[in-house]
Amino acid sequence: MNEMNEKICIITGSNSGIGKETVASLAAMGATVVMVVRDQERGEKARREIIKQTGNNSVDLMICDLSSMDSIRRFAKEFKKRYDQLDVLVNNAGALFNKREVTSEGFERTLAVNYLGPFLLTHELLDLLKASAPSRIINVSSGLAKNGQVDLDDLQSENNFAGTKAYSSMRAPVYANTKLMLMMFTYELDRRLKGSGVTVNVLMPGFVATNLGKNSGSLSSSIMFKMVRPMQVGAKKGAETSVYLASSEEVKDVTGKCFAKKKQVMTCPASYDEVLQKRLWKKTESMLGLAPE
Ligand SMILES: NC(=O)c1ccc[n+]([C@@H]2O[C@H](COP(=O)([O-])OP(=O)(O)OC[C@H]3O[C@@H](n4cnc5c(N)ncnc54)[C@H](OP(=O)(O)O)[C@@H]3O)[C@@H](O)[C@H]2O)c1
Repeated sequence: MNEMNEKICIITGSNSGIGKETVASLAAMGATVVMVVRDQERGEKARREIIKQTGNNSVDLMICDLSSMDSIRRFAKEFKKRYDQLDVLVNNAGALFNKREVTSEGFERTLAVNYLGPFLLTHELLDLLKASAPSRIINVSSGLAKNGQVDLDDLQSENNFAGTKAYSSMRAPVYANTKLMLMMFTYELDRRLKGSGVTVNVLMPGFVATNLGKNSGSLSSSIMFKMVRPMQVGAKKGAETSVYLASSEEVKDVTGKCFAKKKQVMTCPASYDEVLQKRLWKKTESMLGLAPE
């Protein structure tokens, strides 16, 4: 077998798009891959296709709704019962919504899926990642992060983006804000992981033809997504940087960086604001009820 044999990888949001292609590529390299999805039926269908395509039967399916912190905690517990090793965590699941929604736990839904979810999932699995070192965490952000801003007094988008227009506009500010937060989380986590043997990097997959935006429920968004389709690359191409960061020897010691098209890139100046990164971390811990380290 090849270089990913013996590795255990988690890919969230892996029943479609970039996540599904990431699973397929890592499974083709011989890895054991755990697909983390929120819908059993969609997940099972994708899992069967990947096993058929790769011939690797070590593709597992586990259920977790990334918008629910309770679901994340339950998933992490269950994962640790099934597996005693974790080499790669790809925080890939993401969503874009057309209007402000609040989860039953009181979190704005974009923030929950794109930022709080990956933050908590990483936190819950960090002991296992450290015990399995060398191990890797990969966060899937977006080029739109450069349009984002982090307002610590309005992380839930109650004031600045309460209207539906802001959610559905091309620049998708709430989505952009959460993707900027994911970048800042990556850079702060990198400092906290120094010497642990766990690397953490973030990536921008490019403009990829997937289901993203289709769940926003808006006719204008779906027309817009159809119009831009010719400019997008396919999901397999879109997954290349995730696969590279998860598997390549070239980046085994690289940490705290952002990648696009398998190359290191600089991100927007705001993402490197260390004071804000630390304040965001503290605020997030308090929102999630986590004891400060
Ligand atoms: N496509 C692009 O051009 C682009 C550009 C920049 C960044 N990205 C990022 O790339 C990542 C993958 O997106 P994609 O483009 O491949 O879109 P996609 O096909 O819509 O995939 C998103 C995945 O996330 C899952 N997901 C959404 N909400 C979830 C929740 N509450 N709990 C668990 N899973 C959930 C979806 O599951 P369901 O099928 O059940 O909804 C799906 O499997 C996202 O983080 C996205 O923000 C994409």
